[in-house]
Amino acid sequence: MDILVIGGGGREHAIVWALKKSPKAGRIYCAPGNAGIGQIAECVPIAVNEFDKLTAFAAEKQVGLVVVGPDDPLADGIVDAFEAKEIPVFGPRKNAAEIEGSKTFMKDLLHKYNIPTAAYEKFDSYDAALAYLNTQKAPIVIKADGLAAGKGVTVAHSMEEAHQALQDIMVTKVFGESGAQVVIEQFLEGQEMSILSFVDGEIVHPMPAAQDHKQVFDGDRGPNTGGMGTYSPLPHIDPAIIEDAIENIIKPTAKAMVAEGRPFRGVLFAGLMIQPDGTPTTVEFNARFGDPETQVVLPRLKSDLLEVFLAAVNGTLADVEIEWSDEATVCVVLASEGYPASYPKGLPIEGLQSAGNEGDAIVFHAGTALNAEGQFVTNGGRVLGVVGLGAGIAEARDKAYEQAEQITFKGKQNRTDIATKALV
Ligand code: AMP
Ligand code: GLY
Repeated sequence: MDILVIGGGGREHAIVWALKKSPKAGRIYCAPGNAGIGQIAECVPIAVNEFDKLTAFAAEKQVGLVVVGPDDPLADGIVDAFEAKEIPVFGPRKNAAEIEGSKTFMKDLLHKYNIPTAAYEKFDSYDAALAYLNTQKAPIVIKADGLAAGKGVTVAHSMEEAHQALQDIMVTKVFGESGAQVVIEQFLEGQEMSILSFVDGEIVHPMPAAQDHKQVFDGDRGPNTGGMGTYSPLPHIDPAIIEDAIENIIKPTAKAMVAEGRPFRGVLFAGLMIQPDGTPTTVEFNARFGDPETQVVLPRLKSDLLEVFLAAVNGTLADVEIEWSDEATVCVVLASEGYPASYPKGLPIEGLQSAGNEGDAIVFHAGTALNAEGQFVTNGGRVLGVVGLGAGIAEARDKAYEQAEQITFKGKQNRTDIATKALV
């Protein structure tokens, strides 16, 4: 079966890499892909928002399955566009992707169905939001309603910061229409974890939990990024907490979406906060695989990913058993100088050939391209994700950093403390 994967980051590299292992997989196309994906699949120069071109390409190539990686096209209805052409597609429809695309929708849904999440108020006018904010104390969290490339959330540690964030969103409109509404939310203390699940309606198959590192610098300092590193499993987290989150947050949310007439099919990503008393609560839902969570979760998948996707699309996900390896994985992101603000592109990457020995380390490309001489160059904020595999987190971490050190490019930055929380 030929397959089209949509997207071009580290997440999509990991999806293509996992699909490639399926004996059923034929040609794998990736639109637009990146230089690393191009080594194992056929990259197609179509952007993720060009629905007409993408559906025409899939129809022409008669692909048996389309898999959508990123959030923006999902929120814009890319799955509905493929379904209209009767092309099998794995991902949520527009009305279900709203669980990520609108924070007010997500918060109202959880509130309606009594699913744990931080207390909140929502506003569509600056004056009303400001009046409410003035009754609150820092720390407090200000969120633009819509998608904002991961930048729409400010965890304000002072009231000045909170006022600035509200002004940016609603007056300066730095996120455009995404900031037409705002959520002002109670600050949650604790440790975050991500649980991704394969979902079809009320059928939920959770994947192993992972932890991301959102801030750019060691010790969780500096601005938030798309994610600087991940690891899985979480040996320092009581499995009962993970079970609690699955039973009391993720499954009820899948059920709530069905009850609302918006059945979710795809990967439902729960961003959770484990509060100091050990109770998990919801920070966010995403309607897709996480990046870089996928890079540590899919290498642990023992089952055939293509079979799982097809079961979801064919309505037989309940019959599938999904197996995971006990190995640990750690992903260290190598980013460009300046990221998450502006950064240079086109810088030669050295040492890639010596990296990526499958078995104990895998290098997933996030933002790379080939220059005119055929050399790998940087082409994004997050450039590479180096994944180490091992019997435990310590071993996986050593392998990831060993490989990461061999890869160099001008201005390379990475966190040096990925997964250290799990070592205590
Ligand atoms: P979101 O885009 O909703 O995932 O938010 C981005 C990040 O902001 C989360 O991963 C958390 O680290 C942080 N965050 C969001 N909401 C809260 C909250 N209520 N309390 C504390 N941190 C939060
Ligand atoms: N790593 C967080 C995300 O994919 O949103």
